[in-house]
Order: sequence, then structure tokens, then C-alpha cells
Amino acid sequence: MTDTTAPAGATAEAFRVVPNPAPATREERADRIANPRFGLVFTDHMARMTWTADEGWGDPRIEPYGPIPLDPAASVLHYAQEIFEGLKAYRWADGSIRTFRPEENAKRLQRSAWRMALPELPVEDFMASIYSLVELDKDWVPTAEGASLYLRPFLIGTDVFLGLRAPKKVDYLLIASPSGPYFAGGVKPVSIWVEKDFFRAGPGGTGAAKCGGNYAASLRPQIAAGERGYDQVLYLDAATGSVLEELGGMNVFVVTRDGTVLTPVLNGNILEGITRSSVIELLDEDGHKTVERNITLKELREGIESGEIAEVFACGTAAVVTPVGRMGGEGFELTVGDGQPGPVTMAVRQRLTDIQYGRAEDTHGWMQRLV
Ligand code: PLP
Ligand code: COI
Repeated sequence: MTDTTAPAGATAEAFRVVPNPAPATREERADRIANPRFGLVFTDHMARMTWTADEGWGDPRIEPYGPIPLDPAASVLHYAQEIFEGLKAYRWADGSIRTFRPEENAKRLQRSAWRMALPELPVEDFMASIYSLVELDKDWVPTAEGASLYLRPFLIGTDVFLGLRAPKKVDYLLIASPSGPYFAGGVKPVSIWVEKDFFRAGPGGTGAAKCGGNYAASLRPQIAAGERGYDQVLYLDAATGSVLEELGGMNVFVVTRDGTVLTPVLNGNILEGITRSSVIELLDEDGHKTVERNITLKELREGIESGEIAEVFACGTAAVVTPVGRMGGEGFELTVGDGQPGPVTMAVRQRLTDIQYGRAEDTHGWMQRLV
């Protein structure tokens, strides 16, 4: 593959390194990354910056990975002043390490910060933290099929004050987790419960921000869906309870019999997924008509029943592109197509992962070389 991207460190700001005095041994590391599950193992280091209202962002540093002391009055612990991102670093066959559209994550972190009255981290600092941490912990990037180094940047309010206000002290941290697929056990269709009683987001709310509170609020309906035998929850719009929005941690797509692909329009309630926009581009290039618009639950139910809707899939950084085999809700239970992964779903999954893992040319300039 031609290499058009800058090598590691080209843009890195000086993240001062405090090395881990007791890093994992080579054997320990090899053991932990051999067949990782999602989000359970962490590398030796983490990147960090601190912001204060008086001085702005400063003190970029890499520290040993480990617990962070927090004052019990820290604002994140009381008022959930937390936002995060998720992106992956992939090891290519040539040994290099690349990440996928990281500036999009940096910009989305800024949009989330704005909504939550947190300071915006400059894109260059976000990028420099990623370059610096991955360079230092490069040996943690797994090579197993479908595995990657999942990067989790996040901001927390560390103001020591119980008054409700935008924090005057904030920490940015970046941790890295050698991870396997979010859904273990290969690409198999997931089942989805369409939730009518709980809503994820409402007009003017925080649905488009990647804030921890959105995810906390999704856990009760997630448990209820699990008890009904479903893997994931699909939320409807809070205003009318009739229009599809997204899953707790993924965007949703619907494929019609003629190969047209529909996905809910960005209405301020759903997350502007980077996988979502990439999938739309790839499908367009492959000759599919893609349409971003409101999709009603009625249309979904009738379409699956009649066969007009042939495939449904969910997508996101962690979930990649995941087929949906079964959908249920109050008063209905439907198998999507024959319940097996559909051809459009699997083709776009292949297209995307071929680019991410360097098996196909990156004609979009999506991959950034880190190491
Ligand atoms: N929607 C929600 C609620 C998410 O948490 C995610 C995951 O990050 C997505 C959609 C997909 O976004 P992306 O493709 O940028 O990972
Ligand atoms: C991601 O896909 O990166 C997310 O943040 C979703 C999360 C539920 C793991």
C-alpha cells in the first residue's frame, strides 16, 4: 500500500513521559493481548492533560496507567461532568500502526465539551496524546484477527466544589485497551428490543453528545431487554415515540429489497457516528442509494414483515458493522430476512475493515499512521 501519511510523532507535542516503573513483562503482555476481549486489559501508560479556568490546557504528560486520586467533592462524581470518545489503532501486516479518522473524534469531543460546558481540547493536543501514547505502548497493539488497540479519550470535571457550575478544573485522560470484538464469538446477528417506555434522548437534550450520563441512563432498559432475551436496545424519539433513533452505543441502518439503504437523519438526538458517515460513503461508492431520513417504527415493522426491508444492521467503532437478525417490541417479534447476516451488511463490513486493517487501498485518506 502506498504510504501517504506522516510517520509517528510528526505532529506530537511534547508529552513529558513518566515511565511506568513496573511495566508488564514481555510474557505478561503477550498473554494479555493474545486473545483479548473488549475493554478488560490496559496498557502500561495513559496520557493526561489538565485544564484550569485560569491557565487553560497544560501539563501534557504520559503517566503509568493506574488509579487516579479524586477528591470526593470532584464535580464529575456529583454532576456527571464526563464526556468520552472511542477509536481504534490497528496493526497492519507491515507492522505499522494506523488509526481511523482520529480528527473526527477530536472534533466530536469538542462538540460534546461545548454541550456539557467543559473546555474544548485542541485537536492538536488530542492528536498528540494519541501519537505519544501509542508510540510508547506500541507493543500492546494486538495482532489477532479482528483485534485492535481501543483508545478511550475522556474529560472529567475535577473541580472541588459542590455548587452546580461549569467546572474550573478539568482533566483529560487517554487510556488504551487491547481489545477483541465488542460482540464476542464472530460475526453473528444480534437481536434488538425496540424500547417504548424509556427514551435515550429528547429534543434539546444531550443525545448528540458523547457524555457518560447517556450511557448510564441506558442500562435499565438494557437489563430489561436482556431479561426478555434481547442483546441490545433500539430507542425511539422521545417527542412522538414513533421514529427510530439509535442503539445505546451504535447507529442503525435499514436495507430495503432494492438495495436502498436508510438511516435515521441526524436530528440532534443521536450521535453523529464516524462509522455511520463512513458507511454511508462506502455504500454510495458501491452504487447503493443512501437516504438519511426519519424511519418510523410502523415502517420498520411492516417492511420486515413484507420483506420490503431485507436487512438491518448496527454500526459503531466498538461494534464495527453488526447484523441484526431479530427485532422485538411491545406486541411484535420479527425475524429480519432469514435471520442471517445479509449481503449488503457483510459487504460494507468487509469494505470498512479492509481499509482499517490495510487490506485495501485507503482512497479516502481515512487512515493515519501512528507508528
Ligand atoms: N451511537 C452511540 C450512542 C455510540 O455510543 C456510538 C459509539 O461510539 C455510536 C453511535 C457510533 O459512533 P462511532 O461510529 O463514531 O463510534
Ligand atoms: C464505541 O463504539 O467506541 C463506543 O463508545 C460505544 C461503547 C458502548 C463501547
